[in-house]
Amino acid sequence: MSILKRLLSQCKRPGGSFGRLIARGMNFAHSPLTKWALGHIEVTANAAALDVGCGGGRTVDRLAKMAVDGRVVGLDYSKDSVTVSRLRNSDHIRSGRVEICHASVSDIPYPDNTFDLVTAVETFYFWPAPETDLLEVRRVLQPVGQLVIACTMYKGGKHDKRNQKFVDEINMTYLGEDEFQRLLGDSGFDNIDVVVEYEKGWICATARTAV
Ligand SMILES: C[S@@+](CC[C@H](N)C(=O)[O-])C[C@H]1O[C@@H](n2cnc3c(N)ncnc32)[C@H](O)[C@@H]1O
Repeated sequence: MSILKRLLSQCKRPGGSFGRLIARGMNFAHSPLTKWALGHIEVTANAAALDVGCGGGRTVDRLAKMAVDGRVVGLDYSKDSVTVSRLRNSDHIRSGRVEICHASVSDIPYPDNTFDLVTAVETFYFWPAPETDLLEVRRVLQPVGQLVIACTMYKGGKHDKRNQKFVDEINMTYLGEDEFQRLLGDSGFDNIDVVVEYEKGWICATARTAV
């Protein structure tokens, strides 16, 4: 397996001691993207938030500090991401406001209408069935709940040629602005807004659950 493929596989599902290192590294690497993406939505003090594909848990930490009277769940299907995330958020977990859950986005173990907000940073590419997974996300969101998806790669962006190499190495969902719009609309979201940071090659899609 090529080094690039090994690295991308670890991003898709961190595993073992190298995976835990990757999850910690992503906490730093994805922080500017996360900050930018969260600037496009409103996080109220009492929000109930779910961070899908929480990796090393920095977004969970950030959300817990924004939703000071709220509750945050981080969810990841990698046991090693869950371990790193729990360590990163141990104080919040002790205080009872944060929970890190080992599960897939395809089967979120929470009842309908649980969350006001779902975030997904650098994880959407890896979801096994984007359309049905978005329906699952919508199921756990309250009416008029918010979704934010942020990625450092999008089709048609400044770094398209480089990104295409990654996409060819590993099975990833790689969408352009219009495709995000369409997919979110088809999955029952409205108020869809897709913005890009062209120079950096970032994309952020925000939407609300249609009522
Ligand atoms: C590239 S990392 C990003 C982690 C974190 N969101 C960040 O920004 O640093 C992708 C994460 O999504 C998780 N992930 C990928 N597919 C998933 C799925 N189907 N269900 C839950 N988690 C998933 C991976 O295990 C990994 O921890």
